[in-house]
Amino acid sequence: MFKWAPLRKAEFHQNFSSPNGRVVCQFALKNNQISYAVFRDNRPVIKSSLLGFKFFGEALLQDNLKIIRLREQKHRETIEMPWGEDRFIKNDYHEITFYFSESNNKHRIFTIRFRIFDNAVAFRYEIPPQPNFRRISIEDELTEFNIDLNSVAWKIPALQPDRYEYNYEKCSVYDLSYAVHTPLTVRTPNGYYVSIHEAALYDYGSMNLKLNSKHALKSDITPLSDGAKAHVDLPFQTPWRLIMLADSAIELTTNRTMYALNDPPESDFSWVKTLKFIGIWWAMYVGEWTWAPGEKHGATTKHAKEYIDAAIRLGVSGLLIEGWNEGWEGNWLENGKNNSFIVSTPDFNLQEVAAYAKSHNIEIVGHHETVGFVDNYEKQLESAYNIYAAAGVHYIKTGYANDMMYANGRKEYHHSQFGVKHYQKTIELAARKHICLDIHEPIKGTGIERTWPNLLSREGARGQEYEGGSLSPTHACILPYTRLLSGGMDYTSGIFDLQNNIKPIFTTLARQLAYYIVIYSGMQMAADRPRFYEDKFPKLFEFIRDVPTNFERTVPLAGEIGEYYIVARKDYYSDDWYVGGVTNSDSRKAHLNLDFLDQGEYLAKIYVDSENAHYKNNPFGMEILEQKVNQKSTLTLQMAPGGGFAIQFRRL
Ligand code: NOJ
Ligand code: CA
Repeated sequence: MFKWAPLRKAEFHQNFSSPNGRVVCQFALKNNQISYAVFRDNRPVIKSSLLGFKFFGEALLQDNLKIIRLREQKHRETIEMPWGEDRFIKNDYHEITFYFSESNNKHRIFTIRFRIFDNAVAFRYEIPPQPNFRRISIEDELTEFNIDLNSVAWKIPALQPDRYEYNYEKCSVYDLSYAVHTPLTVRTPNGYYVSIHEAALYDYGSMNLKLNSKHALKSDITPLSDGAKAHVDLPFQTPWRLIMLADSAIELTTNRTMYALNDPPESDFSWVKTLKFIGIWWAMYVGEWTWAPGEKHGATTKHAKEYIDAAIRLGVSGLLIEGWNEGWEGNWLENGKNNSFIVSTPDFNLQEVAAYAKSHNIEIVGHHETVGFVDNYEKQLESAYNIYAAAGVHYIKTGYANDMMYANGRKEYHHSQFGVKHYQKTIELAARKHICLDIHEPIKGTGIERTWPNLLSREGARGQEYEGGSLSPTHACILPYTRLLSGGMDYTSGIFDLQNNIKPIFTTLARQLAYYIVIYSGMQMAADRPRFYEDKFPKLFEFIRDVPTNFERTVPLAGEIGEYYIVARKDYYSDDWYVGGVTNSDSRKAHLNLDFLDQGEYLAKIYVDSENAHYKNNPFGMEILEQKVNQKSTLTLQMAPGGGFAIQFRRL
């Protein structure tokens, strides 16, 4: 059902509301400029904000607009996701599409499409091909998000060498005079929680945010090395600009509008399966093994087979193998430009390892560390994926560990149009080969997993590799409200060797289990070496073995940004539930009302910090308790400083 109206108006004011009426968008065409504002419960969230574009060699597309047509449509749909945090996602919105033309002699036409949801507002620009206007070089996107400057924001800087791998800082929107990444989560003075992000990012630079000279937050698109934000052929549409809205911090964490704004897949992805895996990995971080060949080389055929045997014993179905290929010798960051993704080191036989894994139903997770040398990688891409596909490898972890991407003598941001197109190339090639990806140093998530379900995970924030001094307990209490709004993350959880000299882990042991619930990933790693699971803490590993990597439903229970987060998730394949909680460096008591459980009796297995546990001086202090519970039960649990808890509710 839709209606449209021819307008030809130079002045226009109208309000449109979301299906339940709580969210209202106010549009105005005034002085030939189009603006929008967003209200929730009649209270302003985004004040009047301008829209438009600046192109190289073209007049500004902002100042001479008239609306020639307006189209309204209501949409109601429930989307089913093959994997993730919520199987069903509501896609109910009121769509208003404005067709513009210029009132000057240029007569360029373009469209802005708005979708108003009960918990979000999204819009995008669409530019059709037209005479003398076929290919455009974008100098600037002039989208404003004029949010109250006194709002509190949790930011990480954009356009910096460590990409998204920074600690979040709490500040006010007034401080955002340098570009910051999205999702940018803020708390407004009138108490709403808002996160500004984007959906369906293809063939364009990633959107950062920064105050403009009018002190309005504005899109700041990651530039290409030639200074353009993007070069595109018409027709062209931008990614969706997305404003998520919530009454509380925890309500924000299950806003799935980003996925609803992406298209369903075009081909069959029923072959995609989420995965839990161990890895020839952390041993390198703690100096036991090396990526490079030599006496301590990790990725040998012998070690790989031993780890496959361990995976079988542990009941985990995958094994990541890093350092199997030529290129890690010497300074691998510098030498990365010559990495081979085809030639194995002499002590590693891919075919033999893959065949051994296959005979035991273990999935190998291959590894491509490109060090950001994209031209070197793209030259080998097709052959490299073919080699893995031929060996029966269905998962690849990729990496771009460099401050910039390097290609054909140019230096490009990972998050520029160049980078976005490169990542997309790998995703589409992998899909054709029936390979799933876990991208490290990735482009941020914008929900394209809905269209490309083989993109099972990404890194894209500081993960546990930063332990050993660079992660505070606050970090994981910010992620659910910020980075994780853009999708799952490979945080490399489950490190039990907390007190080693090289990379001490500043969490309690129970918290390592909590991460499997708090930080969702379609490819979930059990990151420590098998002996720490089998010899030291076999009882604890049972939780990691059992915890699902695919959930039917997610119910956030309690939390505040940077303080704590407690979330319940129901298994996709059974009636079992799981709950995880983490706190910052303050200890906390969690009072859980188990009314989220389905009807019937459950056996709760609780892994919780002991009274005297502490992430600094008593990280191993924990208890494992069992008790029968049902929907009417309550639980009170202790979270130590830097601690947390994990619970498995098994249906009896
Ligand atoms: C950084 C990735 O995040 C990490 O997981 C990987 O081991 C190293 N790069 C080496 O590729
Ligand atoms: Ca990384």
